This record gives sequence, structure tokens and C-alpha cells, in this order.
Amino acid sequence: DYLRDELLTQETIDLISSLPKVKGWLVSEVCQFQGYWYTQAILQGLLLCQKRFEAKDSDIILVTNPKSGTTWLKALVFALLNRHKFPVPSSGNHPLLVTNPHLLVPFLEGVYYESPDFDFLGLPTPRLMNTHIPYPSLPESVKSSSCKIVYCCRNPKDMFVSLWHFGKKLAPKETADYPIEKAVEAFCEGKFIGGPFWDHILEYWYASRENPDKVMFVTYEDLKKQTGVEIKRIAEFLGCGFIEEGQVEEIVKLCSFESLSNLEVNREGKLPNGIETKSFFRKGEIGGWRDTLSESLAAEIDRTIEDKFQDSGLKF
Ligand code: A3P
Repeated sequence: DYLRDELLTQETIDLISSLPKVKGWLVSEVCQFQGYWYTQAILQGLLLCQKRFEAKDSDIILVTNPKSGTTWLKALVFALLNRHKFPVPSSGNHPLLVTNPHLLVPFLEGVYYESPDFDFLGLPTPRLMNTHIPYPSLPESVKSSSCKIVYCCRNPKDMFVSLWHFGKKLAPKETADYPIEKAVEAFCEGKFIGGPFWDHILEYWYASRENPDKVMFVTYEDLKKQTGVEIKRIAEFLGCGFIEEGQVEEIVKLCSFESLSNLEVNREGKLPNGIETKSFFRKGEIGGWRDTLSESLAAEIDRTIEDKFQDSGLKF
């Protein structure tokens, strides 16, 4: 699975030996690079991506913290961009009906780790890709080109709870006896896969305010409350041209939690790295954290949110 490390190169191993490390939640160890905490595998993917990826002006890159709506955003933007080639409603042959969104939209650092020779130039234009890479660590060409970035952020308590359950499915051995109190502590210290979550969000938030033509900021909550409105905003940002109201409605339906999570490919499929596709669909709700977090743990995350986001204008 994506936590395995047999594809590590000597170069990465040497670099990692010089980086700060902590015993991790979800994985045995995470190491810190350019301010963020990574598994060894994802770090290798990131390094190769920084070295090799050449952005084109027409590229579209979806960015998220893990468990913030990546799968959904991939589906929505894929359906939007391909609405002429694959109209919705479809006669049953829409790629999203038979393929998990993660296989339709390549995950940059994952692909660079697992298939370093993947032909990114072979992707159709505009190339649609996704990443969890923090803003400052993006490949230079992503920042300097005119490619577009759509960033989706989610309420940190829901994100934590989603990651908590995902981790239990993905790495049952590593997480079986891991106390949730320690996981919340790691989350609030920022020392877990992809953390600190607040820097990740804030850096894209400020980038979107400074450069609204380049970086668009959306939230899982807005997507949930008004999916159609957000699709139209995204379409406008990406310069997709006119899109009919009926078409928007069909995309909303096709990509809804109910629709995607009930498809056979998403109930019973597996990604090439072994992750079961159903692990990307759990509840798909706003405020679902209440089922998992005690009041005191929720308050602990709230204090971190308050502390880190107070001057940003972002509210959760
Ligand atoms: P929950 O665990 O809270 O249910 P990611 O795609 O970034 O890994 O995020 C996964 C989260 O998004 C999970 O949240 C999952 O259920 C939710 N999700 C997946 N597809 C969705 C959809 N079509 N609509 C709404 N939420 C969705």
C-alpha cells in the first residue's frame, strides 16, 4: 500500500537520515521536510516531483489536505472539464461510473513515488492532477507558470475524524492500539502525515487572496451546502465557458456521495497500491466529528483552530 517503503532510493534514505523525525500516528515514523511531516514514500514522491514536474500554463492542479474532499473534488472537476466528451447524464459509459476518481486524476507525489517514469506529457490538455504538497514546496514551475490551482479546505475536526477512521482501515496494525488522545495531540502539534494542517490551509488561503486568478479557495462545507454554485464558481475560475444549469445539476448528482459511494467500482475496487476504493467514502457529512470526538478532545482542536486562524479571516 502507499505506506510501504520498498521503492525508496538510496538518495532519499540518505536525505531522511539528516531530517528531524518523530514516532508517528498512522505510520511508525514521519520526517520533517520544508516545515511539513511526511512518510518516507511520500517525501520521495515530493522530491522527484519538485525535480521533474514541468507545469504547463493550461494545467489544473487540485490541492487538499488529506481527508478534506479530494476524491469529491477530483470527480467534480473531471466531470466539469469532460462535459462535452462525456455528457451527463450519460448512457452509462461515463468514466466516473466505472473508474474511481483517483484513477482518473493522477496524484502527483503518489505517482512520482510509485511510477517515476509516468508520462505526464501524455495526459490530455488541460492536464488535471492533484497533490497534497504545501504551497511553498510546490515545484517551481507550478508557481511561476499560469497554471490554475483549486484548493479545497475542510473543518479540521471533520478532517481529523476522517483521517482517524481512514487510518484504522489503511493501517490496522499500526493504529489498533493508538489512543485517540495521542492522535489529537499529534494533530494539534502538527506532527502527523501532512501536518501542520493550519500552515497548509493558511498558505493557500493567503495565496488565493494575493493571486485570485491563480489560486481558488473552496471549502468542503460550501461544496456540500451549495454544490451547484461552487461548480459554477470553479468553472468560471477555470475559464470553462458557459455551462447550462441542467448540466450543473447532473454533475452534482453524478458526483454526490450517494451516487459515487454506491457504484460497484467504489464499493469493491482497489487502487493499484492496494487501497480499497471504499475507504474514500465513509459518511461524507458536515459535523460528523461529534460521533467520534469527546467534548474535551473537540475543545482541544478548537483551541488550536482559534490560536492558528484567529487573524486570518477564516472561520470554522
Ligand atoms: P468522512 O470520512 O468524513 O466521511 P479525501 O477524498 O480527501 O480522502 O476525503 C475523504 C472524505 O470525503 C471522507 O469524509 C469521505 O466520506 C468524503 N467524501 C468522499 N466522496 C464524497 C462526495 N462525493 N461527497 C461528499 N463527501 C465525500
